[in-house]
Amino acid sequence: MGRPGALTVDRGPPGVALRAARDDDVALVRSWRNDPDAVRFSTSRRPVSELDHGRWFSAALVDPRVRLWVAEERGIPVGQVRLNLDGDAGVFSIAVAPAARGRGVGQQMLRIALAEVERDHLVAIVTAVTHPDNSASMRAFERVGFRRRGRSADGFIVFELRLG
Ligand SMILES: CC(C)(COP(=O)(O)OP(=O)(O)OC[C@H]1O[C@@H](n2cnc3c(N)ncnc32)[C@H](O)[C@@H]1OP(=O)(O)O)[C@@H](O)C(=O)NCCC(=O)NCCS
Repeated sequence: MGRPGALTVDRGPPGVALRAARDDDVALVRSWRNDPDAVRFSTSRRPVSELDHGRWFSAALVDPRVRLWVAEERGIPVGQVRLNLDGDAGVFSIAVAPAARGRGVGQQMLRIALAEVERDHLVAIVTAVTHPDNSASMRAFERVGFRRRGRSADGFIVFELRLG
């Protein structure tokens, strides 16, 4: 569950699997975070430096309050899912590699992550915040069951899903 171990394989299309993120994913995850769309729709609206990202990534890998997965499609890394745990709630953040977007990968990796959260009874409520112009992200969260709950102070759309 977000830790070194076997791949979680989902049989549904498009054949995406999640595995725990590893040290050597650091550059890949940064490249997805710093893709122009990801920067545009991020809360900071800024790319992250190699140094800052490296520190954050190393800490995230060992933080019990963070689950960080890399999605693979036939062994090729295609995205990442992060879940920040805070008591009974968890906040999702996702990114799909630019070349893999628009094929259902985002939805599929969210479905797999949600199944793991439910199986391990990690949290009862999951949320996500998306930029109001980020149609693909809003749609991906809605497609897997999230509902709009309102807006954050900085105008982002807040999504929520109650589990179990
Ligand atoms: C948001 C993101 C993760 C979505 O991943 P994805 O694999 O491209 O999404 P999917 O293919 O699963 O599509 C999700 C839905 O959005 C729709 N969609 C995809 N791209 C779209 C676009 N550019 N504009 C509008 N809708 C779009 C899809 O048609 C699908 O809806 P449908 O099932 O009703 O057809 C991806 O675009 C991304 O990494 N963006 C940059 C980082 C980011 O914004 N992360 C989210 C921060 S919370």
